Amino acid sequence: MAVRALLHYALEVPDQTVGEKFYRNFGLVDEPARDGAVHLRPARLERESVLLYAGPRKRLHHLAFGAAGDEFEATRESLRRAGVGEMDPPRGGPEGGIWLRDPDGNAVNVRAETSELPPPDPPLTLNAPGHISRVARRGYPEAMEPRPRRLGHVLLFTPDIDRQLAFYTQALGMKLSDRAQRVVAFLRCTTDHHNLAFLTSAGPGFHHGSFEVGSVDEIAMGALAMQRAGWQPGWGLGRHVIGSNFFFYIRDPWGSFAEYFHDIDYIPEDCAWQARDFPEQDALYKWGPPVPDDFGLNRELA
Ligand SMILES: [Fe+2]
Repeated sequence: MAVRALLHYALEVPDQTVGEKFYRNFGLVDEPARDGAVHLRPARLERESVLLYAGPRKRLHHLAFGAAGDEFEATRESLRRAGVGEMDPPRGGPEGGIWLRDPDGNAVNVRAETSELPPPDPPLTLNAPGHISRVARRGYPEAMEPRPRRLGHVLLFTPDIDRQLAFYTQALGMKLSDRAQRVVAFLRCTTDHHNLAFLTSAGPGFHHGSFEVGSVDEIAMGALAMQRAGWQPGWGLGRHVIGSNFFFYIRDPWGSFAEYFHDIDYIPEDCAWQARDFPEQDALYKWGPPVPDDFGLNRELA
């Protein structure tokens, strides 16, 4: 009984055109709009990762998870046992699957779908001390456009981390990977260290969506390309402690972020991963520029 994939996230935004431009500059490509929503996907995948609906202000419209085959019916049974009622899709939401609300009121769609993985990149050829993998070839990247390979995770604000943790682990079968006290918690439903994370706040909100790219170069070049396109840097380049990934966050048009990541911790299904509870001051990053003052600010609070 568990969801096995984070399929997409959907936002309501006050200007879909601006949002579409942001995510296209970020490296996603358009699908034809339908159901009143802009649909964007990584170029090498067929399914969308980001949906943008029209709304008075930025907020999460819904999250979609995949649970294929027997897992789908088992998830429905688990939700029934947890006393979670099914509901109709929110206006414009995709048909199909199970629709429900989490304890914060976020709409969640569980769909009978598997995750779609991009084709593997060629191996990186990095020269490390004692390990030469690139001989007689120049190593600097040619002009690089950011090309996110896939959606990795979403971070949401919550007024009650433990209530969200209980719901997503017990009712949807996700696993706790790590946390930092009562400040932030990271959950997985794939081999990625995290696919969903929660940051404490006075209320719910959307903080960032994060996409995998092929190298540290591509993170930095993507961040540069976004700034050349007129978008503001958020935070980076750095390396996280929890999940270990390299990161760069770009400010989206609504005061939240989109993140490029590379080299996140990989946790196979049946391994002895021990979730740790990190001290808050050691949890965020190993190196990088200082955290912007407003990085953890939930602008959706009234
Ligand atoms: Fe992230």
